[in-house]
Amino acid sequence: MKVGSRTRKPWGGRFQQATDPRVEAYTASIHVDRRLSKHDIAGSIAHARMLAKCGLLTRAEADKIVAGLEEIGGEIERGEFRFDPSLEDIHMAIEARLIEKVGDAGAKLHTGRSRNDQVALDLRLYLRDEIGELRHLIAGLERALIAQAEAHLDLIMPGYTHMQRAQPILLAHHLMAYVEMLERDRERLLDALRRVDVLPLGSGALAGVGLPIDRRFVARALGFPELSANSLDAVSDRDFVVEPLFACTLLMTHLSRMAEEIVLWASAEFGFIELSDAFATGSSMMPQKKNPDVAELARGKTGRVFGAMVALLTIIKGLPLSYNRDLQEDKEPLFDSVESVKATLLVMASLVGSLTFCADRMRRATEDGFLNATDLADYLVCKGMPFRQAHEVVGLLVRGALARRCRLEELSLKELQTASPLFEKDVFDYIALDACIERRTATGGTATSAVKKAIKAAKTRLRSR
Ligand code: ARG
Repeated sequence: MKVGSRTRKPWGGRFQQATDPRVEAYTASIHVDRRLSKHDIAGSIAHARMLAKCGLLTRAEADKIVAGLEEIGGEIERGEFRFDPSLEDIHMAIEARLIEKVGDAGAKLHTGRSRNDQVALDLRLYLRDEIGELRHLIAGLERALIAQAEAHLDLIMPGYTHMQRAQPILLAHHLMAYVEMLERDRERLLDALRRVDVLPLGSGALAGVGLPIDRRFVARALGFPELSANSLDAVSDRDFVVEPLFACTLLMTHLSRMAEEIVLWASAEFGFIELSDAFATGSSMMPQKKNPDVAELARGKTGRVFGAMVALLTIIKGLPLSYNRDLQEDKEPLFDSVESVKATLLVMASLVGSLTFCADRMRRATEDGFLNATDLADYLVCKGMPFRQAHEVVGLLVRGALARRCRLEELSLKELQTASPLFEKDVFDYIALDACIERRTATGGTATSAVKKAIKAAKTRLRSR
């Protein structure tokens, strides 16, 4: 076989036999990493310009390479590019096509570069884009929640602990709890981005590059604020993948909790929300059914995102330095997670926006279950009784009300005074549900004033970061 023959692998020089087709099929990743083509081309263009600047390519050669790569980008976009599995991965497929197009100049592109630093670069470029997109979509969901909170500032509902009715809260306060979680997720992604934003190219296969290259030039061209500091680390580290994936995992945890509540609230047992027809599905057998499948799938997709993170950590855990082919397995879980999370964020934002809240059901649920018992105890505390004692007194009153099947506010002043002489007739206003809510004005509380402040702060954050 002659040097440069198209039937040969780029590494063909030291090989005498052709690759077994089963090996070719097993080792190929092009069906997955073709997703990186745009980033691979961007990286190669920056690399080619740098090679020319350093005198490793002529200006004309670099121009040919760049023009060829841009054409290939067009071919891929138009669906004309042939992703040949015998070329193993997207890096080799693009390089082979480039050589086909521009000949010898193309064969010089891989000067001072390995697929090991190349794939690390592509992944970092990919993550940079996707983190931006994820943050944008999280903000969209936050806005949908904030809009519902603002539109329903007057709705009250039971707040729960242990899934038992606990104290009255504003629906808006409940919705804003998710906004806080999501905002931390958005922030975590931004923090992870700082460590994604490091240029690995120029690390070569593992030991660095012996030719006179200029890493700073490439970093500037691709907008990386930093260069990787150790070539072995740069080609084998994947914590920059794990971190965003973890952020996605926690984000999905939050989305799954929200989905779970949507499922519960849409049930006849709760009846807190009505799903719009456009965001519900029916049953093929039971004509009466209206199912919250979107929320269920959001909850369900959380499983694959968790799985992806465990997969990635497991792939990395036993790897000696530096690059090992195991790392090729990082892409599928990553891409699948990012796509699942993006799709979930998008649909959840619309789902949240489409919800109708059933004010009556929520208020009625708040009225039953002694949700103002804590406030009744607080009333006594304000009159000087130690809280432990007040808790005991109110406990006895709850027991009495349970026996009589009435609410605390339905007990007479006389009955209350038998339990404690500190009760006066202002107690009834004090334990009215709205009063219980509006008293909780301290930062983070459910009073309308506090919730309005939280909404305002959340909006400011969304504008500023
Ligand atoms: N497809 C490989 C990956 O995704 C690219 C790097 C391969 N390097 C190698 N020396 N075989 O990790």
